[in-house]
Amino acid sequence: MTILVTGGAGFIGSNFVLDWLAGSEEAVVTLDALTYAGNRGNLATLATDQRHGFVHGSIDDTALVADLLANHRVRAIVNFAAESHVDRSIAGPAPFFQTNVMGTLALLEATKAYLAGADSRVRDGFRFLHVSTDEVYGTLQPDDPPFAETNPYSPNSPYAASKASSDHIVRAYYETYGLPVLVTNCSNNYGPLQFPEKLIPLVIHNALAGKALPIYGDGQQVRDWLYVGDHCAALRRVLEAGQPGETYNIGGDNQKTNIEVVRTICALLDAKRPKAAGSYADQITFVADRPGHDRRYAIDARKIERDLGWRPAETFTRGLEKTVDWYLANTDWVSDVTSGAYRDWVRRQYG
Ligand code: NAD
Ligand code: TYD
Repeated sequence: MTILVTGGAGFIGSNFVLDWLAGSEEAVVTLDALTYAGNRGNLATLATDQRHGFVHGSIDDTALVADLLANHRVRAIVNFAAESHVDRSIAGPAPFFQTNVMGTLALLEATKAYLAGADSRVRDGFRFLHVSTDEVYGTLQPDDPPFAETNPYSPNSPYAASKASSDHIVRAYYETYGLPVLVTNCSNNYGPLQFPEKLIPLVIHNALAGKALPIYGDGQQVRDWLYVGDHCAALRRVLEAGQPGETYNIGGDNQKTNIEVVRTICALLDAKRPKAAGSYADQITFVADRPGHDRRYAIDARKIERDLGWRPAETFTRGLEKTVDWYLANTDWVSDVTSGAYRDWVRRQYG
């Protein structure tokens, strides 16, 4: 049997596919629309691997999804496909609702139809794993307890609102149609293959290019950084042993302010790729804050630890060093993804 990974050419999806096939013989079909954030090169090492198939297409193409599900006797879907960048959702919200809400709805509909016609062997073990974000819970004050699965939803950005909507739809398909869904809400991921529009790869890229390192507002916003390899391990565990209808929060247990993260990257680069004069930290520039900027995210991951025995293995120091090393060693990948449309985005966003 096979698992279908949607959005598998993006950052977390490609890490997940590579990780899955490194540890399992079970085949994977990747379905990806190859938006600006999707890159077939992320899966290049699988080009001749018989266990992997790549399909260029959208999750809202119900006929295509129906064919894939039936032809591959899919036993699980892991849904990463999304528009994922908060700043882009502020600049233009519509694609976020098209993909994250309507796309998820279409994927659920195709799954429902597939299971209605499937034999009991497929139906009984089937899982629909929907990958979501902690941003659906809104923002925390400095002394608030971290987000638990029971936190009310309070999304503040168009991105977060679209993901919150999709989570509600997925949950409704469990309650109404008995679809065996699992929802995960994770904190900020970092690691290899992340598109350099997000904070960590943007800062590494800009630092090496001699450009400004833009810090929104006062830089005291807090994120709970999760190494992508830890996230992949958590998702494998949820798929294997998660209870249908349940939500699992996944976090890195690494709360850091943005300015601390950027200064740590600068120190790593100073050590590994010293500048002729001065520090990369000299490039730090405070810029106008993001509208509706959430002050703090943090995850209470006790449920997944208690019920499924998962906890993050990576420390922030080691994870960040591995990430910086990966970007230093993969300058061709960075050049590929930062040509063309990426430059237009950077010009529009940062002036
Ligand atoms: P990403 O932007 O790097 O990748 C998204 C992928 O989805 C791309 O390959 C893109 O081509 C594909 N895609 C977009 N629209 C599609 C469609 N209609 N049909 C098929 N494929 C489509 O995102 P990411 O950072 O890898 O995030 C993956 C998932 O994890 C998203 O659902 C995101 O909301 C969630 N998430 C991400 C983070 C994070 O820190 N990156 C944190 C929490 C949750
Ligand atoms: P980001 O990587 O966009 O993830 P998210 O908005 O989903 O948390 O941003 C992480 C944090 O870094 C967030 O507080 C916004 C901040 N940030 C900057 O200060 N400057 C930047 O150029 C970017 C992209 C983000």
